[in-house]
Amino acid sequence: MISEKQTSIKCSIQTRRLFIRNLNADDVSPRYLSWLKEQSIQQFICSRTQSIKDLIMYVTEKERDPAVLFLGVFDKSAGLHLGNIKFEPIDFSAKCTNFGILLAPEAGGQGIAQEACHASFKFVFETLGLEQVNLSLFADNKPALRLYEKLNFKIAGNREYQDRPVIDMTLNRTNFYFQNA
Ligand SMILES: CC(C)(COP(=O)(O)OP(=O)(O)OC[C@H]1O[C@@H](n2cnc3c(N)ncnc32)[C@H](O)[C@@H]1OP(=O)(O)O)[C@@H](O)C(=O)NCCC(=O)NCCS
Repeated sequence: MISEKQTSIKCSIQTRRLFIRNLNADDVSPRYLSWLKEQSIQQFICSRTQSIKDLIMYVTEKERDPAVLFLGVFDKSAGLHLGNIKFEPIDFSAKCTNFGILLAPEAGGQGIAQEACHASFKFVFETLGLEQVNLSLFADNKPALRLYEKLNFKIAGNREYQDRPVIDMTLNRTNFYFQNA
């Protein structure tokens, strides 16, 4: 099990179709930046990144933070960057973390998010020893809601953020393994 004193958490996982590893500044590309500017994505995430320089700074900051696990999801055969998964902050004392995911538009609708979440949640529950993953989503984000329900997240509350309905959800280790054994 990884101790909270470790400077940064290293992760490298292979699944049937994917290679999932720590994201670093070398992975920043115009393609990755374009996802953040895509209207279909922008409506559901809170990103202020406008340039490659901003994005390199953002990724470098996350890479160095010991309370963050920022992962890139790559196609195993072609090595193409398909998206990101982020656990931030990781609270080792409370054994919980917040979660976020972003897929390239062309990678959607193929079960890639589910495959990547399944593998990375196993990592945080088994290797990091966490007990709970929390997240928030805009209530009209139907693909995300469907994904989280499939992973067995439960609704923890409803609220508003900037006049938009938001759902808070939580997944504990027991519920994850009940659905994803
Ligand atoms: C949220 C997000 C990650 C969901 O991605 P996704 O591709 O829809 O999610 P999934 O991996 O569950 O795939 C969905 C569909 O792929 C298909 N699929 C599932 N497993 C599959 C497999 N093994 N092989 C092929 N296709 C498969 C199914 O049609 C599935 O839909 P269904 O479960 O309703 O039948 C994506 O929409 C995204 O990045 N959105 C923008 C950012 C965002 O909103 N992030 C979340 C903020 S809270």
